[in-house]
Amino acid sequence: MIMKALKNLLSIFLIGLIFGGCAYNWIVEEPVIDPTDPNAEEVSFSSDITPIFASKCTACHTTGNQMPDLTSANAYNSLNSSRYINTSDPASSLIYTKASPTGNHVQYSEAEAALVLTWITQGAQNN
Ligand code: HEC
Repeated sequence: MIMKALKNLLSIFLIGLIFGGCAYNWIVEEPVIDPTDPNAEEVSFSSDITPIFASKCTACHTTGNQMPDLTSANAYNSLNSSRYINTSDPASSLIYTKASPTGNHVQYSEAEAALVLTWITQGAQNN
């Protein structure tokens, strides 16, 4: 009888742990911008996109090394070509697909990928 009550308590505790764990992950996750939302906040290349490159990409994509050059000073000019950006079909842009969370290269987080896609959807401006 007591054992059964203890088992029940243990089950409740474990279930709580599992769901509590998910809820916790959910809360700490970065907000994800919606690239299809026409009223989405304007994404800034200099304050939203280049910091992503600086944190994840410039170990390799520096001036004179692997193309494209993703250092803050050169990233825009380096990306401003149809090789990397396709504003008529943003999701096919190489700067988005290459590091998308489903690829096998270094990856953007889901939130970062959404920012890059939104930036291209909004016209890939040097803003
Ligand atoms: C550990 C080194 C390394 C890091 C970090 C890295 N890359 Fe790369 N990247 C490469 C190499 C090597 C290639 C060339 C081989 C290939 O295409 O996979 C490449 C290729 C690319 C290409 C295709 C270039 C072309 O002209 O075909 C793009 C776009 C790219 N990376 C974007 C990024 C982005 C965005 C990040 C950061 C999220 C990033 N890379 C982080 C090493 C890296």
